[in-house]
Parts: sequence; structure tokens; C-alpha cells
Amino acid sequence: MEIIQPQKKDIQKLAFIEADCFPLAEAASYSDLKARYRAFPENFLIAKEEGKIVGFINGNTTNQTILEDRFYEDASLHDPSGAYMCVFGIDVEPPYQGRGIGKALMRAYIDLAKSRKKKGIVLTCKKRLKPFYESFGFTCLGQSQSTHGGALWYDMLLAF
Ligand SMILES: CC(C)(COP(=O)(O)OP(=O)(O)OC[C@H]1O[C@@H](n2cnc3c(N)ncnc32)[C@H](O)[C@@H]1OP(=O)(O)O)[C@@H](O)C(=O)NCCC(=O)NCCS
Repeated sequence: MEIIQPQKKDIQKLAFIEADCFPLAEAASYSDLKARYRAFPENFLIAKEEGKIVGFINGNTTNQTILEDRFYEDASLHDPSGAYMCVFGIDVEPPYQGRGIGKALMRAYIDLAKSRKKKGIVLTCKKRLKPFYESFGFTCLGQSQSTHGGALWYDMLLAF
């Protein structure tokens, strides 16, 4: 498995993976992902197995320690000089889940943020995934005000 940055032509495939991984109300569309890739291509990582894209991670950069819902829809809110990198989504194709790919993507994203001298990583997650993120050192800041996809979210912060 290799973790690399995607090319523009890969974005369509990422939209298919996103649709497989998230409910419709939460999934970023092809056009959302294209807009994000245009604004912050440097914040996308993909996992490839035998040349096939099987997962990816992406998010903007901000000075805030809370991920706001408006970030998902408005790629122009990306602030490259911000101190924190957000995770909007971490996705592994269902047949490839449970093999360490999600963990490897998260570790690579953390390394990327550290290499850019950021202060940490910010995300929101559902209750069942808190232990997954806590295993990387994330702390739960409490219930989020997010109403993204009509679900209940928790604010998570990894401070380096
Ligand atoms: C969450 C997700 C990215 C994890 O990727 P993965 O490749 O399946 O995870 P890994 O194999 O690297 O597992 C890492 C650890 O997290 C745990 N874990 C993985 N998915 C989990 C889940 N849904 N609930 C609870 N724990 C989970 C695993 O048990 C494993 O723990 P271990 O190392 O102690 O065995 C993947 O399941 C996925 O794409 N889910 C759908 C989309 C989603 O919910 N993304 C996260 C919100 S942005």
C-alpha cells in the first residue's frame, strides 16, 4: 500500500468512494471535492493498493480549533497559513476496511501537518469513532454544534 497525493483525474474516483462510505446527506459530492481540490490539493492524500485507489483523507487549513459546518461547503475558507489542518473526511472503501489503511492515512496526515509546523488537527466525529481518533492522541472537546447531515457530532482536537 502506498500513500501519496492524488492528481486531478483521481477526484471522480474519490467521489465514488465518498458515496460508498457516507450517507447521502453527509457525503461530499463530486463538485464539492473538485472545489476542495482546486482550493487545497496539498491537503489530500490517497491510499493505493496495487495501483487502485482504496481510500483518502482531506480537509482545509484554518486558525480555528473547531471545524465549522460552513467549511464543508465553502472551499474558499481554506487559510493556508492557518495553524490547524482539518479532517473533513477519512474514507476507506468498505472491502478494504479493517486492514490498517485508515490508520495509515491518519498517520500520514498527522505527519504532513507536523512537517508544515502546524499546531494540530481538528475534526468532528460520531460517538462510535471517538476511540479511533483518541488512539492517535485526539481529545474530545465535547458535543459539536454541527448539524452536518442531521447527525450528532463531537469536536475532536489533536494538539501537537
Ligand atoms: C473509519 C475508517 C476510515 C477506518 O478505516 P479502516 O481502514 O477501516 O481502519 P483501520 O483498519 O486502520 O483500523 C484502525 C482502528 O480503528 C478501529 N475502527 C475502524 N473502524 C471503526 C469503526 N467504524 N468503529 C469503531 N472502531 C473502528 C479498528 O478496530 C482499528 O483498531 P485496532 O487497531 O485497535 O484494531 C473506515 O472504517 C471508513 O472509511 N468508514 C466509513 C467512513 C467514516 O465513517 N469515516 C470517518 C468519519 S470522517
